[in-house]
Amino acid sequence: MDNQESKWVRAFTNIAFIKYWGKANEELMIPMNNSLSLTLDAFYTDTQVHFLTELKQDELYIDGELQDEKSLDKAKVILDLVREQAGIQDHARIESINHVPTAAGLASSASGLAALAGAASLAAGLDLSQTELSRLARRGSGSASRSIYGGFAEWQQGSNDLDSYALPIDDANWDIGMIFIIVDDKRKDISSTEGMRRVVESSPYYEGWVQSTAEDLKEIKVAIAERNFIRIGEIAESSAMKMHALNLSAQPPFNYWSPDSIIAMRKVEELRDSGYPVYFTMDAGPNVKLICKQSQMDEIYELLLKDYRSDQLVRAHPGPGMQVLAGEDLP
Ligand code: DP6
Repeated sequence: MDNQESKWVRAFTNIAFIKYWGKANEELMIPMNNSLSLTLDAFYTDTQVHFLTELKQDELYIDGELQDEKSLDKAKVILDLVREQAGIQDHARIESINHVPTAAGLASSASGLAALAGAASLAAGLDLSQTELSRLARRGSGSASRSIYGGFAEWQQGSNDLDSYALPIDDANWDIGMIFIIVDDKRKDISSTEGMRRVVESSPYYEGWVQSTAEDLKEIKVAIAERNFIRIGEIAESSAMKMHALNLSAQPPFNYWSPDSIIAMRKVEELRDSGYPVYFTMDAGPNVKLICKQSQMDEIYELLLKDYRSDQLVRAHPGPGMQVLAGEDLP
């Protein structure tokens, strides 16, 4: 079945201010806590899917290159769910284009799997609501559930497949932005999935994480509603540090930091000491993301250029939700 419904879908990546770090159910991708993120305009994925009778297996092309079986694992989960819902048997050809600034090494599963959920469901003729798209993207990668929406989105953990999805919180169309400090573009050696599994199983602090995250979430939502930038930054930085503390307290302990990550965190603290309201967050990798006011972003960027090359710094603004591409936007 090739069909006319195959459209290009674009989804932007998101960075969590309240981190998702642990699963209650690995198969259904139900998290241990609600999380909250900001969708950003700097990194995105364009994807198109064709279900084709002649294919012997699913195929994934990223930037024109056919990927190996292993890279298809997460995508297959989404394809199988779509086939089941649409009642089709055909294998799929997925074409994806990652828009990631050179050397960034930040290809993100969030934008990739959200775009796939959108493109695969359209190609199969399914007309899904945003909630259904968020649930579908979640099954590929938890953080992808939030990339359906622009601005701030909250993934409500729920307790089953039906009630675990993200919702929009605020369009973030105000004075907030982010600078990515790329200290290292290598792939992480402990995947998010593996890292989460280890902390849930072995960190003596895990219960404290779940409790304090619920508090952080409540507070950051108030701060977002009030556009209280400083409070948002403080809570986001603290949530990231708590997540990384879980990793240090797991058995065996692990961390995602390189020496250069620590230097970058210090740099952010120095900027803060000199009067700029700036905060950092970090994910399952060594790069540091600086949260700043959009109105000060260029000034801070210039200051960072004293210590970093321009290809190590990426400025990002709040980005839009998932979109079907047409006209000039088509890849
Ligand atoms: C640190 O969504 O990549 O970025 O669900 O196992 O695919 P899986 O993990 P993933 O984990 C993201 C973890 C994080 C925090 C966050 O985005 O909330």
